[in-house]
Amino acid sequence: MTKYRSGLGWDSHRLAPGKSLILGGVKIPSDVGLDGHSDADVLSHAITDAILGAAGLGDIGMHFPDTDPEWKGAASTKFLAHAEKLACDAGFVIVNVDATVILETPKLSEHRDAIRKSLADCLKLEPNNCSVKFKTAEKVGPVGEGKSAEAQAIVLLTSKY
Ligand code: C5P
Ligand code: MG
Repeated sequence: MTKYRSGLGWDSHRLAPGKSLILGGVKIPSDVGLDGHSDADVLSHAITDAILGAAGLGDIGMHFPDTDPEWKGAASTKFLAHAEKLACDAGFVIVNVDATVILETPKLSEHRDAIRKSLADCLKLEPNNCSVKFKTAEKVGPVGEGKSAEAQAIVLLTSKY
């Protein structure tokens, strides 16, 4: 088996008033939040897909269908921790994660350390191996108009054997 495997993840959720903005398991103070079946943590969803992709284990919808009442309002850090366990059971260890959240407002950089620590705790990584970056969409398109947020992630796994 190949020693290293990379995986890519992407997700998007609508922004709506009266919803919480949770990114990487951290609640960010904001007038608008993300809407979805779970807590709509777009960052955790992108990283979950990247882990599953690297391990060749399908995608988030396969493991956590949004039609299943068990996952309604669920904390997406559960998905992340479960994806890490599935990858581990398949013989892999996560080397590092890198991700980008694309959101027009609020500014997220002051929350970077908290998000990195939350993700790292969930994935059994050092925060140093768990990078999170932030971008606006320069006011263009649905993200730029404040209608939605997106996240992209890449994960590297190494074989334990
Ligand atoms: O999108 P733009 O290139 O203008 O972003 C510049 C910087 O602003 C980013 O590198 C990031 O540090 C920060 N940023 C942020 N929160 C956002 C978007 C961008 O902290 N929602
Ligand atoms: Mg999602």
